[in-house]
Amino acid sequence: VDSKTSQLIDLQEQAAKLYHHILVNTEGGQPALDYLHDRGLTDDTIEAYQLGFAPSQRLLKPFFDQRQSDYQLLRQSGLFIENAEGELRDRFSERVMFPLRNASGHVAAFSGRLLKKADDQPKYLNSPETQLFNKSRLLFNFDRARSAIRAAGEVTLFEGYMDVISAAQSGVENGIASMGTSLTTEQIYAIERTTDKLNVCYDGDEPGQRAIARALDLLNQHSHLQLSVIQLPEGQDPDEYRQAHGEPALKQMLTTARETPIQFHLRYLRRNRSLDTDSERLDYLNQIMPMLAQVQEPVELDLYLNQLATEFKIDKSALTAQLKQVQRDTA
Ligand code: UTP
Ligand code: MN
Ligand code: MN
Ligand code: MN
Ligand code: MN
Repeated sequence: VDSKTSQLIDLQEQAAKLYHHILVNTEGGQPALDYLHDRGLTDDTIEAYQLGFAPSQRLLKPFFDQRQSDYQLLRQSGLFIENAEGELRDRFSERVMFPLRNASGHVAAFSGRLLKKADDQPKYLNSPETQLFNKSRLLFNFDRARSAIRAAGEVTLFEGYMDVISAAQSGVENGIASMGTSLTTEQIYAIERTTDKLNVCYDGDEPGQRAIARALDLLNQHSHLQLSVIQLPEGQDPDEYRQAHGEPALKQMLTTARETPIQFHLRYLRRNRSLDTDSERLDYLNQIMPMLAQVQEPVELDLYLNQLATEFKIDKSALTAQLKQVQRDTA
C-alpha cells in the first residue's frame, strides 16, 4: 500500500467516523437514528457496521478544511462534487451512510440511502469509482463475513446492504451483496477462492427473480460453485421478511430453505403463465426440457420427472423419451 492509497483510506475512515458520530451523538442525526431504529436495527448493529448520517452538504468540506487536508486528495476521494470553479461540496446529504469496506476491512467508499423519498434522486447513491473503489470488484460485507463463510461452508448472496445487515443481526453472518449492479466475474472469482457453495437470496419481486435467473447463469458459466436459491415470499426482501416475521424466522429460512437451480427455473418459467391449455403446457415443457437435459444426477432428474408427470398428467415414459430426444439433438 503506497502512501497515496493510505492517505485516501485515512480520509474515508475519518469521514466514516464523522458520519457515524453525527448519527449516534448529535441532534442532527436523531431523525436518521429513529429511522434505523424503526426499521428494527439495534445499536450494536449500527455500531458494527459503523452506519452514519450525512445531514447536509456542509459537513465534510469544513471538517477537512480545518484539518488542512490536501485539495487533490479531497478531489480524488469521491466524497465531493466539484463545480466549474473547482470548488468542492459534499456529495452526500440527507442520507444514511453505509461505509463500503474492501476485503481488508478498510473503508473504500460509501453508499448513502435517502432518508426521505425524493422522486428526482436515486434511493441509494454510491461513491464514484476511485483509486480505492472498483464497484465491479467490491463485495459488501466480505471482510466481516469471511470467517462465517468458512465456518458455514457456504456464502449467501443478497441484493441489498440492508438484507445483509438484517441477516447478520438475525444470526446469519455469512451474507454478502454486490453493488446494486449485477454480479461480475471478478466478484465470482473472489467468492470461489473462499468457498464452494453459494445461495442466492434476492428479493421476491419481479426484478429480484429476474436477477436470480441472470446470476445463476453467470455463476454456472464462470464457476464450479454448488448453487442454491433461497426463495422469499412474493414481493418481500429478506429485510422486510425479518420485519414481518422476526429474526428467528429469517434465520430459520436462511439456514434451511434451499431450492436447486432447476427447481427455481421450473417455478420461474411458470410465472405469468396460466398453463390451462395444452399448447401453453407444451410450450412450457419445451422450454424446460433443455434444462432437464443438463441434470447430471439420475436421482435428481427422476425427482423432476415425477413431479412433472404428476402435475401435467403425462406419462413419465413419454417425458423420458422426449428428454432423450432433446439430449440427442443437443449432443
Ligand atoms: P432495493 O431497491 O431492493 O433496495 O435495491 P433495498 O436494499 O431493499 O433498500 P431499502 O430496504 O429500501 O433500504 C437493492 C440494492 O440495489 C442497489 C443498492 O445496492 C441496494 O441495496 N440500489 C438500489 C442502488 O444502487 N441504487 C438505487 O437507487 C436503488
Ligand atoms: Mn460508535
Ligand atoms: Mn430489490
Ligand atoms: Mn430490496
Ligand atoms: Mn429492502
